[in-house]
Order: sequence, then structure tokens, then C-alpha cells
Amino acid sequence: MQLFPLFKGIATYIPFLYDATRGQTGGSVTARYCYSVWLRHLRTMSAVCGLVPMRRAAELGPGDSIGIGLAAMLTGVDHLESLDVVRYAVAARNRSIFRELVGLFRRREPIPGDSEFPDLQPRLTDYDFPHDLLPDARLEELLDEERISSIEAALDERPSSRSIDYHVPWDARDLPHGARLDVLYSQAVLEHVENLQSTHNALANFMRPGGIAIHAIDFRSHCITPGWDGHLQYSPALWRLVKGRRPYLLNRKSPGEHLDALARAGFEVLAQIRTKAEPTVAPAALAIAFRDWTEADRETAAMTVVARFKAVHA
Ligand SMILES: C[S@@+](CC[C@H](N)C(=O)[O-])C[C@H]1O[C@@H](n2cnc3c(N)ncnc32)[C@H](O)[C@@H]1O
Repeated sequence: MQLFPLFKGIATYIPFLYDATRGQTGGSVTARYCYSVWLRHLRTMSAVCGLVPMRRAAELGPGDSIGIGLAAMLTGVDHLESLDVVRYAVAARNRSIFRELVGLFRRREPIPGDSEFPDLQPRLTDYDFPHDLLPDARLEELLDEERISSIEAALDERPSSRSIDYHVPWDARDLPHGARLDVLYSQAVLEHVENLQSTHNALANFMRPGGIAIHAIDFRSHCITPGWDGHLQYSPALWRLVKGRRPYLLNRKSPGEHLDALARAGFEVLAQIRTKAEPTVAPAALAIAFRDWTEADRETAAMTVVARFKAVHA
């Protein structure tokens, strides 16, 4: 077992060495990433459940900017809730990403693919601009100057017919009563969420029946260890040291546990798209807590789940 992750975790307790609010999460810091993520989600959702009406959306864990949500707004969302636990997104970055996104949509740029973002999920077979989902006439309406200005006004917290709420740290009480979300999505977030079941339960309360959730979950060690699954070697006690004072790290839930949590919260899983990788940790070197994972779960490096909300959980 590598000791470096333990030293790194312990170092987070040393004042001045670590500040959770400094730094970036690395993804939604560029417009092209946000554009790629949202169009991949849109393409994947439509392949599974056809055209999804999308006026109200929420994103869990937007990270460095709310740009993925801004891309969603440029494809039809009018009300966006962005829910995070650390305030990474800053207004100036949101604004410049928004302006770049408008250009990307106006030019109907192809979806940035695997050569530009080799680890990004969900993968697509075709990275052309989705003209079938966003035909010219519809895109003209969506990119109309009045609509763009209203989204900019919402970004600047000026009066607008569109709305954007960024809640940090979010709480279920932040979501407006009867929010009735059409779409809930996350990118590389659910593997970090400590209390997975209560998070899904809280979000489920705001879904409209029939609303769609799409979550891309990354099961790799996020470079904490050299092997992609090396984080599964640490016992829960040692993992607490690896995590240190960081507000979140990896919850190390199996793909199966993620699917169960969604189902218990009232979501019907419609599709699970898995990316496989050969495990690097021998079964005997796994912490006991992870030895009962199924073979399929052990080989899953990433998974995108599409689910339909059926009913409020029990
Ligand atoms: C790896 S970053 C991904 C950020 C962004 N989605 C992207 O694709 O670039 C993980 C994000 O999840 C957020 N996060 C962690 N736990 C969370 C929770 N319980 N609720 C909401 N967001 C959470 C983090 O603050 C961070 O913004």
C-alpha cells in the first residue's frame, strides 16, 4: 500500500499548508469542457428517453464554474439551481465562459471529443454537433439576443425572466418549494458525496414525476494512487487519514451501491453505461470492506446513469 496518500492527508492538518477554498477542481474551468459535458449529457439522455422537456434543471457539484448549467440554459433551460459544498465558481469566470459558450453554439461547433478530453464521460459514438436535437430554427430562438441578455441578467443577479441560483454549501431547504425539476445532472460528483442516500432523497423531493436524472460517476482514484483502483486498498480508518481535513474526497461506494441508492430514492434506472478497466489491485490486497464487490463493479472505472423519477421515496 502506498504511504504517500497518507502523508498528504495528514499534511492537510498543518495550518498554512492547506486551504480547501483555494485551488480549482479542474474541469468546468473552460467553456469547451462545459460545452462538451452538457452536449454529451443531452445526447445520452435523448438516446435513452427521447426528447426531454427541460425548463427547470439542477446541477449537483458544478465546480469551478456553473458553465455546464449555462450550456444547459442555452439549449432550453430557463431556471437553474447549482448546488455545491465549496464556493469554486466565481462571477467573472461564469461570465466569460458564458460568452464563449454562446460562440460555440452559434458556430455549431462539434462536441469536443476523446482526443481533447480523453477521460470525459459519457463517451459518444458521434461527436458532430447534434443538429437533430437542436435544429437551426430552435437554436435561433434559443440564442436570440433577448434570451441571451436575460440569462446574462440572471447571472448578474439583475431582474430577469430566467433564474440562476448558486447555493454553497447547499441544503435541501435552499431549493424552492415545489421546484419540480425536469432534469437533474452531475459530472464527476457522486463519487465524492459523503451521504449518498440522503443526498438522492433530498434531490428526489424536488423532481417532477417523470423528470430525468443523469449522473456521470468516476470510480478511479483521482490520481491519489498510481493504480486507478489503488484507493480501495485503504481500510476505512486509514482512509479517514488520507482524506484529512479535505471537505470531500472519495466515498468509495461501488457502482451497485450507487444504483441502489438511486432506486431507493424513487428513481427507475433506465440505462447504465460503464467504462471498464482491468483492476490493478489483487483481491487479497483490497481492504475487507471492498472484497464483496461483484466482478463487474470491480472492472467499472466510470459509469453514466440515466434514471427517471417515479415517486417520492418512502
Ligand atoms: C471533481 S469536482 C467536479 C466539478 C464539475 N462537475 C466538473 O465536471 O468539473 C467535484 C465537485 O463536487 C462537489 N461536491 C462534493 N460533494 C458534494 C455534495 N455533497 N454536494 C454537492 N456537491 C458536492 C465539489 O465541491 C466539487 O465542486
